[in-house]
Amino acid sequence: MRRRNPALQVSKRASLTPPSPIRKLVPLADRAKSQGAKIFYLNIGQPDIKSPPEFLKAVREFRHPVVAYENSQGNPLLREELVKYYKRNGISLKSKEIIVTTGGSEAILFALMAVCDPGDQCLIPEPCYANYMGFASMAGVTLVPIPTDPKNGFHLPDMHVWEKARTEKTRALVVVNPNNPTGTVYDKRELAMLDQFARSHKLFVISDETYREMVYDGAVHHSFLNFGSPSQHVILVDSLSKRYSLCGARIGCLVAHNKSVLESVTKFCQARLAAPTIEQEAAIAAVKSPKRDIEKIRSEFMKRRDTVISSLQNIPGVFVRKPEGAFYCVAKLPVNDAEAFSSWLLTDFRDRGQTLMLAPANGFYLTQNGGLDEVRIAYVLKSEDLKRSMTLLKTALADYPKKSTASL
Ligand SMILES: Cc1ncc(COP(=O)(O)O)c(C=O)c1O
Repeated sequence: MRRRNPALQVSKRASLTPPSPIRKLVPLADRAKSQGAKIFYLNIGQPDIKSPPEFLKAVREFRHPVVAYENSQGNPLLREELVKYYKRNGISLKSKEIIVTTGGSEAILFALMAVCDPGDQCLIPEPCYANYMGFASMAGVTLVPIPTDPKNGFHLPDMHVWEKARTEKTRALVVVNPNNPTGTVYDKRELAMLDQFARSHKLFVISDETYREMVYDGAVHHSFLNFGSPSQHVILVDSLSKRYSLCGARIGCLVAHNKSVLESVTKFCQARLAAPTIEQEAAIAAVKSPKRDIEKIRSEFMKRRDTVISSLQNIPGVFVRKPEGAFYCVAKLPVNDAEAFSSWLLTDFRDRGQTLMLAPANGFYLTQNGGLDEVRIAYVLKSEDLKRSMTLLKTALADYPKKSTASL
């Protein structure tokens, strides 16, 4: 038998990269499913809204005899369509300022790598979208958490908190607006404060606007690119995944006015050759389509949000504030360890053969032991399924043998 070479080790970077809290419990869910359980998946932001028929038609009708590499910065026609999309949304761009990426995920990595060297720091409100931790680890960047408070809906703390967290190594701020996991939509005052902070200290702003259209109750989304001129410090990260319900298409983009940033990101793009050819071509049809009714999608998600929040607020010991955007909320549960509870839901709990899957929130915190009693809930299923999921959650919390000492 061949013995494993004891000296063969993966990098420290690899060992230190945290697993995704969104996918960590998948093996338990797979086992539960193979045992016949019906699982309501509230752990992942995968909406059940149908993908645009124009996109699917364009995929079916792709007729080129060779699926060739696209341009590294993206299909020129898609970039032109995106210019029109942003124009419709009040943002004026040239197509060379938009680089198509393999999902918004790749745009995050490229943005971090373009502005930070290994050992540099970025400030980010906590809790934060967990994949920033994975990407920061890949890029050798340290994320410095800016604490936010669930009691005021996770809105941003005052400038002095940001000033205190800034060091000589700080290169950028990361602002996810509307926010994943909290669903917070930052108002103009908060964004103006950050813009001023970034400008005065020559910091970049990585503005992740993946959920830019998912704002509720008449709230308005303000893009960082619209906060005065020049906006050389702003790098916008965007994605078609949620907006068009095209998560598997893996199409996103990075937008910047800054020439050096664009040139740097272009080199990263050349190294990875190209984003997917067929999906980019089909994405043109989706972005172009006049049929998409964003108001309808928005009101559907608002209905789902209201279903989840009112149910959660009726469960004893649960604390949650109504989120203003995206399709997530962070809820405090009456348990000491939300990961143990989320695992137990998959391993032990069944009600009429059904259970649910949640994302333990600790993985969205950089601070050790942050959010231990919290979960992130993605309200991406239809209201009827969400109602059932919330009933399951209520029953499970009542049955759970290890409730928090505070809730007893
Ligand atoms: C805030 C945020 N940014 C970026 C992404 C990445 O999206 P994708 O890579 O699917 O385009 C996500 C996905 O959930 C997200 O929530």
